[in-house]
Amino acid sequence: MVAAIRVHKYGGPDVLTYEDVEVPAPGPGQIRIKQGACGINFIDTYIRSGAYPNPLPFTLGNEGAGTVTAVGEGVKDFKTGDRVGYVVTLGGYSAERVLPAERAVKLPDAISDEQAAGMMLKGMTVEYLLQRTFKVEKGHTILVHAAAGGIGLLIGQWASKIGANLIGTVGSKEKAELAKANGYHHTILYQDEDFVARVKDITKGALCEVVYDGVGKTTFPASLDCIKPLGTFVSFGSSSGQIDAFNINILQAKGSLFATRPTLNTYNAKRDALVKSAGDLFKMVTSGAVKIPVNQKYALKDAQQAHRDLEGRKTTGSSVLIP
Ligand SMILES: NC(=O)c1ccc[n+]([C@@H]2O[C@H](COP(=O)([O-])OP(=O)(O)OC[C@H]3O[C@@H](n4cnc5c(N)ncnc54)[C@H](OP(=O)(O)O)[C@@H]3O)[C@@H](O)[C@H]2O)c1
Repeated sequence: MVAAIRVHKYGGPDVLTYEDVEVPAPGPGQIRIKQGACGINFIDTYIRSGAYPNPLPFTLGNEGAGTVTAVGEGVKDFKTGDRVGYVVTLGGYSAERVLPAERAVKLPDAISDEQAAGMMLKGMTVEYLLQRTFKVEKGHTILVHAAAGGIGLLIGQWASKIGANLIGTVGSKEKAELAKANGYHHTILYQDEDFVARVKDITKGALCEVVYDGVGKTTFPASLDCIKPLGTFVSFGSSSGQIDAFNINILQAKGSLFATRPTLNTYNAKRDALVKSAGDLFKMVTSGAVKIPVNQKYALKDAQQAHRDLEGRKTTGSSVLIP
């Protein structure tokens, strides 16, 4: 038996239960791993609350890193003792687990389990957002909401290396400082300031090529007013709640905009895409261009507190659970 965080009913952080679970031997195509760290992501709160439903009960968690302890029939790419990281929909908040080998990637020695658990999901998301959803180039002006969050700090570091001009919205002055230390040229306290007016001011009316919006309800539709004609609106999350249904003609009225609602699962569905995405991320990290800010570490048993902090806007950068 191993320790895990289970969900038996949907709800707030208090539905997370710390208990022992059986972990089976890996079946065909699977590996079993002992986890050094488990990643915490905002999506875990949507799954816990039932906004993204799954059959109950389940072990929460989408991401982790650790050492292979057993391989199932037919697994050729991994052996016992290999260190791996992964993103898989459920089962991450656990001391040990079984997962499909085709969803795991080997970790470079220079990347620790804690770093990997803090970056596999967020870092590969940033890879596809900046390189594939909208290709950010030198000189582009981009607006990122929740710039001091897990995704936000990685976008700041990565896009500033490309040479983009970065504007980030944040919930506090401390977060503004942190965003600036991670590549943002301008920050906006979006709870106190009119972010559209500030973006107009900062860009001298030119606006942005792209807005990356993981906040959702409270920043829409104002985000559209920050985009140049023919620019792109990327709605990649909804930490403040989901965007209400809207009339698509608004995209015409705001300047023939493109809008997309992407997800990592689609972008990295194929093994080749996953391996390339992880490889690009590892290059950015091992070269020192992007540092993984694992700013909150919790014992696995403290998952409830970790969720309260994440939803209470108390965290910055990445958070991990240590089994
Ligand atoms: N589509 C994909 O492939 C994909 C993949 C990974 C993550 N995501 C999405 O990316 C977003 C960021 O994820 P993350 O794990 O890195 O989380 P995070 O940004 O570290 O945390 C969420 C942040 O959102 C801001 N926020 C604004 N309004 C909020 C509210 N009402 N309640 C709580 N937070 C609020 C807070 O920052 P401030 O205090 O600065 O406002 C908070 O720190 C999430 O929406 C997530 O679902 C999408």
